[in-house]
Amino acid sequence: MGNGGHSDSLSVLNMPAITATAPGKIILFGEHAVVYGEPAIAAPVMQVRARAVVSAQPNRPPGWINLQAPDIGLDTIWDDLAQDHPLHVLVKLVLEAIHIDPPPALTLRITSTIPIASGLGSGAAVSVSVIRALTRFLGRTLPDDNISELAFEVEKLHHGSPSGIDNTVVTFEKPIYYRRKLSAGKGEMQPIEVPEPFTIVIGDTGISSPTAAAVADVHKSWQADQEGFEELFRKTGEIAHRARQAIEDGNLNALGPLMNENQEMLIEMGVSSPDLEQLIHAARRAGAHGAKLSGGGRGGNMIALVSQANQASVAQALSRAGAVNIITTKVSSTHEGEKSS
Ligand code: PMV
Repeated sequence: MGNGGHSDSLSVLNMPAITATAPGKIILFGEHAVVYGEPAIAAPVMQVRARAVVSAQPNRPPGWINLQAPDIGLDTIWDDLAQDHPLHVLVKLVLEAIHIDPPPALTLRITSTIPIASGLGSGAAVSVSVIRALTRFLGRTLPDDNISELAFEVEKLHHGSPSGIDNTVVTFEKPIYYRRKLSAGKGEMQPIEVPEPFTIVIGDTGISSPTAAAVADVHKSWQADQEGFEELFRKTGEIAHRARQAIEDGNLNALGPLMNENQEMLIEMGVSSPDLEQLIHAARRAGAHGAKLSGGGRGGNMIALVSQANQASVAQALSRAGAVNIITTKVSSTHEGEKSS
């Protein structure tokens, strides 16, 4: 690490608090297969967000960092956190990336309305909001590509072998078609144009399900039956490819059936669950055009494609079938005024 150019007390006194936020996300098509190099489609969920606020602590010595994350009961000094704690690693990576050591004393407070371990990308959103707030507070900016790469490093601690789709969609805050490049270790994303925005109802089973466990189980099943699983992944990739075409053509009638087909693949991969199935079937019975799990599976959230006419009845049906939280969100290429500043 390098210079301590931002640590003199006068500049600290003048440093305003900086806030940055990042959205949740859903995977519309292709989860799990994306880990094996197939394409997938994800979209941001603007209604739920992680928020990081960085403020100066002029009475403390340089290098003093107070980390507050009340949602997980954390209030500690950064140096006291285990070296492999994701928040320890995250702050270290940011300071290294912008060559500031030590930073002026500061408090970093993280809050989030994104449910944890439920497939809505809370880990990636926390990382991206922290990276943006810290760098801006310290007078630096990082391009989005670098922000996404830093968040990806932290995703590895959460997931083991992440595809990189979460950090990418959460950083760029637009619908994306994403493909992991197995050789390069990093993914390639293309923004998707959405000429006909569409509405998704998200239903939460309330069962927290760490993605790492589901990804590890799929890996074991793949090892036991490589041919069978590669066929499942290939078919899932094809569905994602057709879905992209349908979205870009504004052909929403094709999307629902593709979601249902994708769900069949996920069942065969062994990542659905009775609770997810219950919500998925309730949504379809109430008129949803298609429904599937979203994210790692085994619990967490499912998504349903709805129209204006049946959006309320699908949400009601999900609630009656046991969903503990319901979010209605629009997938669109523009979110006027909503991207974090
Ligand atoms: O973080 P989650 O639960 O949304 O899962 C991400 C999707 C997976 O394909 C299961 C894993 C990955 O890294 O892409």
